[in-house]
Amino acid sequence: MDVLDAQFIAGATTLGQLPPPARSEIAFAGRSNVGKSSLINRLLGRTRSAVARVSGTPGKTQEINFYRVAVRDSERDHEFFLVDLPGYGFAKAPLEVRRRWRPLIEAYLGGTPELRGVVQLIDVRHGPSADDHRMLEYLAGTGLPTLFALTKVDKLKSTQREARLAEAMRDLGVDPEQAVPFSAVTGEGRDELLDSIRSLLNEES
Ligand code: GTP
Ligand code: MG
Repeated sequence: MDVLDAQFIAGATTLGQLPPPARSEIAFAGRSNVGKSSLINRLLGRTRSAVARVSGTPGKTQEINFYRVAVRDSERDHEFFLVDLPGYGFAKAPLEVRRRWRPLIEAYLGGTPELRGVVQLIDVRHGPSADDHRMLEYLAGTGLPTLFALTKVDKLKSTQREARLAEAMRDLGVDPEQAVPFSAVTGEGRDELLDSIRSLLNEES
């Protein structure tokens, strides 16, 4: 699947600021600093001029960001919103900011019929945190199709790689075909993740 175009549409810090929905939407979730902006830029083929901001300051993305993405595969063109959810679990964020993300994320995830699925990011080195487990429980309750991207795999030594991946999947309770090892540095996992997203988009009626 080729990415033809990606454009920033809107950032929302309140429900009232959500843009009118696209026909299909795919959301990306994960704790702060998990590598979400880096993954999105890699996925969209933006390694030089980023679409999503990347920084060394965790907790930077405290709004829901919407990008309109156009893709082409052998069957058809798709246009969808790629939705970058605020990173959660950043202990140093002001309390008011930390309180705000959860209702906003859940209102969006639970209230958007156009949403075809969620890509949940987990740092492969650390495995799921308590916040991640809360998010997984919430997602399971919604019944939304969920893919897992195990981020920063380039940081694993080759000798520990397979054992670490297996352990992460066991902690998450997912099958290997639901989880994609990903590196924004090497590009590993990009094509596989795009392909899985295409399947989600093709499941629409
Ligand atoms: P916030 O929006 O700030 O919550 O973080 P985020 O989840 O968007 O993470 P971001 O993409 O900004 O990356 C956080 C840090 O991890 C940055 O220093 C990145 O360079 C680094 N990083 C992200 N992905 C990878 C990866 O695949 N491999 C390596 N080695 N580093 C990565
Ligand atoms: Mg970010």
